[in-house]
Amino acid sequence: MNSLFLAVLCAAFASIYLTKELEAFPSKDHIGTRIIGGEVARAGQFPFAAAIHVQTADSKFFCGGALTGNDWVITAGHCVYKHVSVTIRPVDYNIYLSPVYAWSMPLADDARAYALGWGQTSDADGELSNDLRYLYISTISNLECRMVYGDQITDNMVCAIGNYNEGTCTYPFAAAIHVQTANSKFFCGGALTSNDWVLTAGHCVYNAVLFTIQLGSAQLVSDDPNRMTVATSTYILHPDFKPDTIENDIGLIKFRRPVDYNMYLWNVIIYPLTLADYQQATILGWGQTSDDDPELSNDLRYATITTISNLECRMVYGDQVTDNMVCVIGNYNEGTCTGDNGSPLVIIHGRSYSVAGVASFISGNGCESTNPSGYTRTFPYMEWIKNITSDKDN
Ligand SMILES: *[C@@H]1O[C@H](CO)[C@@H](O)[C@H](O)[C@H]1NC(C)=O
Repeated sequence: MNSLFLAVLCAAFASIYLTKELEAFPSKDHIGTRIIGGEVARAGQFPFAAAIHVQTADSKFFCGGALTGNDWVITAGHCVYKHVSVTIRPVDYNIYLSPVYAWSMPLADDARAYALGWGQTSDADGELSNDLRYLYISTISNLECRMVYGDQITDNMVCAIGNYNEGTCTYPFAAAIHVQTANSKFFCGGALTSNDWVLTAGHCVYNAVLFTIQLGSAQLVSDDPNRMTVATSTYILHPDFKPDTIENDIGLIKFRRPVDYNMYLWNVIIYPLTLADYQQATILGWGQTSDDDPELSNDLRYATITTISNLECRMVYGDQVTDNMVCVIGNYNEGTCTGDNGSPLVIIHGRSYSVAGVASFISGNGCESTNPSGYTRTFPYMEWIKNITSDKDN
């Protein structure tokens, strides 16, 4: 069987035909390059980027690559499968077409880098992107990565997470949610986990009739040209949510139409690890800033907190603290308050974020008490979130 590779470099500035014997590749199991969110690359910004259409005897798939010389492209092993000797006709460099050099040092555990690709821009959309997209990412340690993927992560691999944000909006995934039920109105926070879903607490969607959601602005009421407001009534409450014990206090709200990302409006990923005891994290919210002042805060506020062990938390709140919850304590007078419900607890990696918790409960003694505040851990619900948000029927 004679297979054909077609590499299109820099949007039709040159094309190279490569021929090689190749065994059938299981295209269904193929993990595509995927840039979710990110920016569209300018012409000439990444002159080494190669788009590779791979054809085997019985399938076709797509890979990205990088030009490392005028007759070589580096790509993933699974894109060429088995040992392949490739011959390509040398190309002439120009400002849109030039090579990139291999980084000659080990990547640090918290290095910032760009990821490039024409891959799908969401789980739901099976199409490749017409534009080359790029995204800032941060690498994580292999130790952290093995906690997610196990021992298959070798020292020659590196894992990265996205959502680096350069913009002036520090928390572009923060959502302000005005909730209306049949007989009341209240306020919750949330986190944009994709361009059409917001993650919040279960008690924020329980019995809801309508949501008005503000995105893209750290200010609740003052003028902001970047603020976007969407109304929606579609939500999914965790099927095992218990309003009395607030078990499984997690829910998702869907927009009627996906929103467009910009510098002020961007999704956050779910922290892919179990939150440790005594781990530092950041909490956000527009909630009350004191017990005495019932007003919400106009500015999105944040505080650094530390998780405590569930054993310690049960000493305060008893056995209603389940393993899917986590309690946190802040510095004196810093913590969660009314109106912060549903707001995310985030982990910062370099300058990128992931959401590890959703604000669930506060002490009956008030926000200014020294008692811990409670969050729903997101990690135990990762599969549930993925199932809901990737199901096109929702
Ligand atoms: C997610 O979907 C899969 C496949 O339908 C199912 O087996 C699994 O139980 C679901 N998980 C959750 C947590 O809903």
